[in-house]
Amino acid sequence: MKGIILAGGKGTRLYPNTIAVSKQLLPIYDKPLIYYPLSVLLLAGIREVLLISTPHDIDNYKELLGDGSRIGIHIEYKVQETPRGLADAFILGEEFIGKDSVCLVLGDNVFYGQSFSQTLQRAIANTEKYGANIFGIMVKDPRAFGVVEFDKDGKVISIEEKPQKPKSNYAVPGLYFYDNDVIEVAKNVKPSDRGEIEITAVNNAYLEKGKLHVTLMGRGMAWLDTGSPKGMHKAAGFVKTLQEMQGFYISCIEEIAWRRGFIDDAKLFKLGQELSMTDYGQYILSLLED
Ligand code: DAU
Repeated sequence: MKGIILAGGKGTRLYPNTIAVSKQLLPIYDKPLIYYPLSVLLLAGIREVLLISTPHDIDNYKELLGDGSRIGIHIEYKVQETPRGLADAFILGEEFIGKDSVCLVLGDNVFYGQSFSQTLQRAIANTEKYGANIFGIMVKDPRAFGVVEFDKDGKVISIEEKPQKPKSNYAVPGLYFYDNDVIEVAKNVKPSDRGEIEITAVNNAYLEKGKLHVTLMGRGMAWLDTGSPKGMHKAAGFVKTLQEMQGFYISCIEEIAWRRGFIDDAKLFKLGQELSMTDYGQYILSLLED
């Protein structure tokens, strides 16, 4: 399975922070926002990644992440000229995806919770079995998201994009798994009223064919909002609190790559040394002492 991170968009809700800098490069406490979705792909065991961003920002991502070999993966880059919609990821990524299945993660989505790696493994298995796997997660106000509608027996009957009157409190987070058909499905999506080719239309197309599996995430799963200054501040507080309390770092890409066996002890040591002037670097080095 291949992985795509969509890290474009204008980030207007965060202006003036994002006038000159891409939103997904802003820090969430001690690391750039993009590390969080990248670690989701690493946790899923995905080592071939396509990062999509704007013509203005793509070079900054290349500077930050390079070709991925630092952490034992392969990263390619693609420019999205205009924010045409999330489904554009599969059209822009057609050549990269090739004949594989694909996981799309939005560059501004932060996940954290127990057994998340297992959840991801199950999503991959579900994608093989059904065709697609997305998630539903309980939120207080789902009006800003894709929302899952269930019938009285709990069967998913539709996904609505940003409904004024949501039919449930289950929002669809920005983490999607599809088989290879997604490229053709995306090409056939018509722009919505807001002029975007919506991921929700892709999901409904899979649903209509009986090929969509929706995994509900329980209350132990944190899905953090980074869409506003307040959301980013709260997310940073969450990361700081947990890291200080538990001693484990959230979304340390070097650690995940090492635990997954993508890099060895010597490589991890080198990465830690490069950053040894920070707590982040010291944490990486401390992993080798255990
Ligand atoms: O975060 C989950 C939600 O993401 C889902 O519940 C919705 O169904 C889905 O449509 C999407 O809603 P948003 O309105 O939050 O998407 P937004 O336009 O903010 O884009 C999400 C990220 O993707 C953001 O970091 C910018 C980036 N992006 C967006 C578009 C439309 C791109 O890189 N290219 C694009 O064309």
